[in-house]
Amino acid sequence: MACDILLVMLLLFLAANCIQYGVHGVSQVPCLFIFGDSLSDSGNNNELPTSAKCNYRPYGIDFPAGSTGRFTNGRTEIDIITQLLGFENFIPPFANTSGSDILKGVNYASGGAGIRNETGSHLGGSISLGMQLANHRVIVSEIANKLGSPDLAQQYLEKCLYYVNIGSNDYIGNYFNPQFYPTSRIYSLEQYTQALIEELSLNLLALHDIGARKYVLSGLGSLGCVPHVKHLYGTNGSCVEEQNSAAFKFNNKLNALVDQFNNRFSADSKFICKGTAPKAIDTHEFSVSDAPCCPFGCIPDQKPCNNRSDYVFWDDVHPTEAWNLLRAMSAFDSITDQTFTYPMDIKHLVDYEIKRELEFTNETTSLRATE
Ligand SMILES: *[C@@H]1O[C@H](CO)[C@@H](O)[C@H](O)[C@H]1NC(C)=O
Ligand SMILES: *[C@@H]1O[C@H](CO)[C@@H](O)[C@H](O)[C@H]1NC(C)=O
Ligand SMILES: *[C@@H]1O[C@H](CO)[C@@H](O)[C@H](O)[C@H]1NC(C)=O
Ligand SMILES: *[C@@H]1O[C@H](CO)[C@@H](O)[C@H](O)[C@H]1NC(C)=O
Ligand SMILES: *[C@@H]1O[C@H](CO)[C@@H](O)[C@H](O)[C@H]1NC(C)=O
Repeated sequence: MACDILLVMLLLFLAANCIQYGVHGVSQVPCLFIFGDSLSDSGNNNELPTSAKCNYRPYGIDFPAGSTGRFTNGRTEIDIITQLLGFENFIPPFANTSGSDILKGVNYASGGAGIRNETGSHLGGSISLGMQLANHRVIVSEIANKLGSPDLAQQYLEKCLYYVNIGSNDYIGNYFNPQFYPTSRIYSLEQYTQALIEELSLNLLALHDIGARKYVLSGLGSLGCVPHVKHLYGTNGSCVEEQNSAAFKFNNKLNALVDQFNNRFSADSKFICKGTAPKAIDTHEFSVSDAPCCPFGCIPDQKPCNNRSDYVFWDDVHPTEAWNLLRAMSAFDSITDQTFTYPMDIKHLVDYEIKRELEFTNETTSLRATE
């Protein structure tokens, strides 16, 4: 009961946000580019020879277009953020941009993918962060063609938002999967985490070179509380501390990276991160946080639970739309939880740019006025 009331309140809040920010169907940023894994994938894996695939029922059971390749019952977190930003449509997957306007952005995220190139190979192969960046370069040159020159493309791309949510698979799938990957024999957890952050930061710098100025970086969730991980360790319900502390280490280093980049690029860029605080969001609002809604892992045509908004987890690994909604709203507007974003929420990140644009407009108007 309490949960239903909470959900209704969340939905009302969401509706209010949409009215407040989405007026006249004009989005707050002209474009959004998405990098990541299954938490953000919207169909890039559908034609890949990988077992990290979900373009079948019951996935998408609560999504208007059905099973699109989203690893949840409804919208992903970034889908909901996309709506909060006022976009009329979801951002199309790189694998199928036909019929979509790439000037509004592209989603490169791939289920199973990691920061490291080899992550996900045991599932058949995913599109790693480096390859996602290569795909972005293809889109950037298409945008340059559309706009008439690489310079115009660069100017345009500087106005976009760049969302990066990746790293979970580098731990769950790679480091803590020694049967398939040697990394835990090569690195200590501390060294591995440092190597991940360094590789992530190289990719963020490469993105900066091709126009990215506003970044939303996502921390990792409590990996040790994922049902799949608990089953593997046979913990009989309790979370796996080793994996939670890996996520915690990653998140601390991500916070430090955000500080470092905000200092280094204070003249032209802004980086924020979300979900890096130790207790990012409590699961207490949900009546079921330890078992997935699909009791046997959302295999094709399986019947999921009825009360999906009571559950944190949809399948063995991925959260429900209800959980995504809570996370997206906290990332967008941290009014209810100040610690959820750092150093500001997405709403303020967007405002920050608008101020710069206003100054610029004022400058050009006064220039024109003196002519
Ligand atoms: C590609 O996207 C378009 C527009 O969203 C959609 O109508 C079409 O079904 C998609 N094609 C495939 C193969 O998914
Ligand atoms: C990972 O792949 C990218 C893109 O294919 C490549 O540029 C990069 O050098 C690779 N990184 C490593 C560590 O092999
Ligand atoms: C598992 O947890 C349940 C509930 O907390 C408890 O009743 C049961 O004895 C535990 N089983 C084992 C093997 O520890
Ligand atoms: C979900 O609904 C079923 C009946 O449809 C009920 O038996 C079950 O207790 C509910 N679960 C929760 C967590 O509310
Ligand atoms: C606009 O520019 C003028 C002249 O440079 C300045 O006096 C004024 O404060 C500016 N207005 C805003 C809103 O920045």
